[in-house]
Amino acid sequence: MRGVLITFEGVEGSGKTTQMLRLARWLRRRGHRVERTREPDGTPFGLAVRRLFERRDVPFQPLTETFLFLAARQQHVAERVRPWLRAGRVVLCDRYADATVAYQGYGGGVDPELIRELNVRATGGVLPDLTLLFDVDPAVGFRRMGRRRRDHFERQALAFHRRVRRGYLDIQRAEPKRVRVIDAARGIEAVEAEVRALVQEHLRGA
Ligand code: TMP
Repeated sequence: MRGVLITFEGVEGSGKTTQMLRLARWLRRRGHRVERTREPDGTPFGLAVRRLFERRDVPFQPLTETFLFLAARQQHVAERVRPWLRAGRVVLCDRYADATVAYQGYGGGVDPELIRELNVRATGGVLPDLTLLFDVDPAVGFRRMGRRRRDHFERQALAFHRRVRRGYLDIQRAEPKRVRVIDAARGIEAVEAEVRALVQEHLRGA
């Protein structure tokens, strides 16, 4: 039996991580076998990549950054995602292939088509069954994050994050069946109700 891969995407402060936790609890109560994971740090290798990005003394080019996220993804799919899907799990992943298109592509100026091709290689064709896009104005997201520590990506200018948001919305328009957009400017409960409805609809049809 093949499992289901559900990915969570959105700009910083969109609330996706909170919603993923809540959904995991809800699905488990309903008897699903759920695995939670994240990118880039879903494996020890990916964690090392994330640490590298957090260092201010290590400069890098947008394409270098792209390769590192893809390397982390390849390792993550091989070590975690694919085996879980083979075991029939519902896999919830906080960021995945679309994040590289949105951040390094639209945000960083790397050719999005190139990233799409590299994503096919890195994932070995393991693409999300459903992607929940938590859409919010990045300025609202930043206010929500408050004083949480800011890594390299969070320190980028608001203009960068606006391009990221546009990138996500373009991805959604190109694949409206896979990517479902959720208005994340609303309160946690309203967003959660919509997440549950979308996931339930997907699992029923799966
Ligand atoms: P987080 O907000 O989900 O912890 O995200 C980690 C950071 O890494 C976030 O700023 C987005 C960034 N990122 C990319 O730029 N490209 C990617 O492919 C992934 C997975 C994350």
